[in-house]
Amino acid sequence: MQLGTLKLTWPFILAPLAGYTDLPFRLLCREHGAALVYSEMISCHGLVYRQRNTLEMLETVDEERPVAMQLFGSEPEIMGMAAGYLSELPIDLIDINMGCPVRKVIKKGAGCALMRQPRLAEAVIRQVLAHTKLPVTVKIRLGWNHQEINGPEFAKMAEEAGATAIIVHGRTWSDGFGGGADRAGIASVKAAVSIPVIGNGDIHSYQDGLAMMSETGCDAVMIGRGALGNPFIFHPEGNPGNLAAILPTVLRHLELIDRFCRTDQVLARSKNQAGRYFKGLPGSSEIRRKIYGAASFTDLLLVIQELAETFP
Ligand SMILES: Cc1cc2nc3c(=O)[nH]c(=O)nc-3n(C[C@H](O)[C@H](O)[C@H](O)COP(=O)(O)O)c2cc1C
Repeated sequence: MQLGTLKLTWPFILAPLAGYTDLPFRLLCREHGAALVYSEMISCHGLVYRQRNTLEMLETVDEERPVAMQLFGSEPEIMGMAAGYLSELPIDLIDINMGCPVRKVIKKGAGCALMRQPRLAEAVIRQVLAHTKLPVTVKIRLGWNHQEINGPEFAKMAEEAGATAIIVHGRTWSDGFGGGADRAGIASVKAAVSIPVIGNGDIHSYQDGLAMMSETGCDAVMIGRGALGNPFIFHPEGNPGNLAAILPTVLRHLELIDRFCRTDQVLARSKNQAGRYFKGLPGSSEIRRKIYGAASFTDLLLVIQELAETFP
C-alpha cells in the first residue's frame, strides 16, 4: 500500500490506543511485524501551548519508524499549527482523529463529532495539509448513529480535501464499542473512494485481518485491542499460546518501558501492559494478582523472572 511517499509492504497496522500505544509498545509491535504504528491521540491545544504531558507523548526513536502521530481537535487553525509542529519531528505520517466517541473529546466538537460537521472537518483536513508535507490519514467511524450513516460521503469529502488514506472503524458513535464491527459498512466506505482504505474493528487474529481485507476490499487493516498483551497478532504464526514462549516478549516489553518511560510512570505502565499477556492461560488470575500486587518495578521483574524459571 502506498501512503503518499510511504510504501508499506505488509498490511497490518497498530491502531492508536490512548494509554497504551506509547513508544515502548509501538516499538514492540514493530519488532513483532506491525508495518506501521500509530501514537495515541495528541491534543492540538496541548501541542501548541507546549504542555508537558503532551510534549512527552512526542518521544520517538528511529527504530520504530514508520510511525504516525495522531492529532485531535476541532479548530482548523490550531490543528494546522499542531501539524506544523509534528512535521518537524522524525515521523512519517499524521493522522486526524475523527472517530473518537469519548465525551470529553466530543464535547469540544472533536473526534467523531466532526462527522456531524463535514464542512468544519474539511477545513481541519485542509489546514493540516497546508502545514505539512507528510501523508495525512483521517480516522473515522461509519457515522454518528444508524440514522446518520455518512461514512462513504465523509470519506469522499476527505479524499477531495487531499487526505492520503481513510481509516474506518466499522461502528457508529452511538455503538460505542458494542455489537460487532460492520464489515459491509467498511466495504461501502472502500467503494466510495479511490485512496487507500484501512479497515478497523474487532480483529482478533492475523487470519481474521486477512478475512476483513477479502470481505471488504480494504487495502490494509488496523488492530487495536487485539494487540494488547498480544503483539504476536501482526505475524502469521500468531500467539504461541504458552507461557514459556510468551515470557521473553513480556520481559522485552518491560525493558522498553523501563528504558523509555518517566521513572514515576514505569511501575503503573508495566502493570497495565504486563497483566494483559496472561489472559486465558492456566493460572492467569494468580499471575495477574502477583503482577498487580508488585510494590516496585524490581518486584514485578522478579514475578516475571520466577515464572520464566518455573516454565522454562
Ligand atoms: C483503550 C482505547 C483507547 C483508544 N484510543 C484511541 C485514540 O487515541 N485514537 C483513536 O483514533 N482511536 C482510539 N481508540 C479506538 C481504536 O483505535 C480502534 O478504532 C477501536 O478500538 C476498534 O479497533 P479494535 O477492535 O481493533 O480495538 C481507542 C480504543 C480503546 C479501546
